[in-house]
Amino acid sequence: MIDFEALAEPGSDDEKLLQRIDVEALPRHVAVIMDGNGRWAHSRRLPRVAGHKAGIEAVRDTVETCARLRIDVLTLYAFSRENWKRPRAEVSTLMALLKEYVHKELDRLVDNNIRFRVIGRLDDLPRAVQGGLQRAIEATKDNDGLSFNIALSYGSRTEIVDACRSLIRAGVAADDVDVDTFSRHLYTAGQPDPDLLIRTSGELRVSNFLLWQIAYAEIWVTETLWPDFRRTHLFRALIDFQQRERRYGGLTSKERPDPAEVVRG
Ligand code: FPP
Repeated sequence: MIDFEALAEPGSDDEKLLQRIDVEALPRHVAVIMDGNGRWAHSRRLPRVAGHKAGIEAVRDTVETCARLRIDVLTLYAFSRENWKRPRAEVSTLMALLKEYVHKELDRLVDNNIRFRVIGRLDDLPRAVQGGLQRAIEATKDNDGLSFNIALSYGSRTEIVDACRSLIRAGVAADDVDVDTFSRHLYTAGQPDPDLLIRTSGELRVSNFLLWQIAYAEIWVTETLWPDFRRTHLFRALIDFQQRERRYGGLTSKERPDPAEVVRG
């Protein structure tokens, strides 16, 4: 059961948006490219890291909202493999924020029945950060509410290469490789593909994120910078998502021929 009052105050604008969402037709998996932290900070004459710190509140609100809406999977792109090229001080601050986030947030994740996972090359991260992440993964592994994936040292092409290596190591014969088998060797094995991909700060790129998995995702881009992103924006994305007709390469319901007219061979 969805607790609507926990999602929006009665009479608020959020409540009006929430009323427009069909909770029976929510995406199973929402993926988010969190972008614009640097620009958010720059517009306030603050150092870039202030944008990352402010972005944590947006992470908290998005995770909690998805959990309350009973969405199955949320994947947040927090740190790409390319992000290692950023100035050392910025990388260290991001790592410290991550460590602090999992430490502070663990009780809340457990209380909200959230299963925490990491996708990406966890081994690339500093040991102290890995330890905190492993503790959170372990402590939440039996939770069966929202699966919250955080993409860290993540690159989609690397993920695809890792899946190939995993298939070969498992001794899968070439002729036995098909789309389903391949998916089972990705970091997201066992999870549904994203139905909705959100990108903040207006850029129209997918930035090496879940390239295999977003094959049929609906993309929603907002000019809002990540630190300003709140459930209001998520509600708008969900309303927009529910107005799209997903075709998966087929025809729309209007274009589909009357079954009586279909000539069977
Ligand atoms: C992109 O903004 C954002 C990132 C590279 C990091 C995302 C990190 C957070 C939201 C905070 C940490 C998260 C957790 C879960 C602890 P950008 O710096 O590329 O922004 P710009 O394009 O405006 O420069």
